[in-house]
Amino acid sequence: LDDLLGEGVSGRRVLVRADLNVPFDKNNPGVISDDGRARAVLPTLIALRDAGARVIVMSHLGRPKGEPDPKFTLAPVATRLGELLGSPVAFAEDTVGASASAAAEALADGQVLLLENLRFNKGETSKDDAERGAFADELAKLADFYVDDAFGAVHRKHASVYDVAARLPHYAGGLVLTEVDVLKKVSESPEQPYVVVLGGSKVSDKLAVIQALLPKVDKLLVGGGMCFTFLKAQGYEVGKSLLEDEMVSVCADLLAQADGRIVLPVDVVAATEFSADATHDVVDASAIPADRLGLDIGPRSTALFADAIAGAKTVFWNGPMGVFELAPFAAGTRGVAEAITKIDGFSVVGGGDSAAAVRTLGLDESAFGHISTGGGASLEYLEGKTLPGVAALEK
Ligand code: 3PG
Repeated sequence: LDDLLGEGVSGRRVLVRADLNVPFDKNNPGVISDDGRARAVLPTLIALRDAGARVIVMSHLGRPKGEPDPKFTLAPVATRLGELLGSPVAFAEDTVGASASAAAEALADGQVLLLENLRFNKGETSKDDAERGAFADELAKLADFYVDDAFGAVHRKHASVYDVAARLPHYAGGLVLTEVDVLKKVSESPEQPYVVVLGGSKVSDKLAVIQALLPKVDKLLVGGGMCFTFLKAQGYEVGKSLLEDEMVSVCADLLAQADGRIVLPVDVVAATEFSADATHDVVDASAIPADRLGLDIGPRSTALFADAIAGAKTVFWNGPMGVFELAPFAAGTRGVAEAITKIDGFSVVGGGDSAAAVRTLGLDESAFGHISTGGGASLEYLEGKTLPGVAALEK
């Protein structure tokens, strides 16, 4: 971005790919529950705006099926972005075509425009290079330069992330640069002891990263919904808890390979149903009643995990320990997060849900080394995969 600013952008159109895929409040449609991703791209937008560029921002939101769907409109995000920038953000009701071109043409120097959800167009996520390329051609026509600052989406080979970069002079935004620098450091030269904390619902989503990290870590602490498949692999019954039957033998193999480095909860908070009002008790991980489901790690597990974290020089955390959105099941995530803030070392919070947990639980964001905006992207980086969005910028 500094290179682009150095060339001078006053009066020029700059197409910025941002990841404005923010969560919304389930009880208040249209109300953004965590605007962290919008705030993360502000420095790039402000730098371009203040340099007199005509800034065209594009993003996806959710997973619409390649056609307009009002449930996934970015309109409320344009309003919020305007509030954060302190100047109104225009909104184009289409991504490409006559209305988007007219909105882009109408921009004055230093004005910002947000295009409607990229995924309202099939070309954005198409597996067909020609279909994606045709959509990228249309996007590229809107501007003179392309800046990718959507770290959360760099693992997607999508038109706005991958193909547009080949069609315009392209630059990395500050967020992408910072995120890649931090993950490179953690993945190539983590200061030991290196402790990884993984949560979230599915083992299958995390299998590749577990396999990649296991040889590098001193301890891998497993909580969240995924711990129950590991507990089952350890020979315990898990009642009505989340379970991926087909992954039990894979988990058993991982436990055998890990030689004690995978640490599982020793107690869990088991509830009668998935509800904040459900009857719930702390039970041993080996004694989950048949009619209960585990919705958080228990206090002994939280202490066990906090103890392992306390000695770490590097911590990477992805995925909540329980259903932190419901108050009775938030203590495990809070306890682990608080332990991470206290280490005498470097911590990285990877991803959407864990980053949202830090903010929702009111924890001090500055007490973490780095809070990533990319869940899937940071995991794929640690798996050692090539990220298409980063590769496209490096060309
Ligand atoms: C994310 O939320 O991880 C990014 O915005 C990417 O979204 P996606 O998984 O729908 O591609």
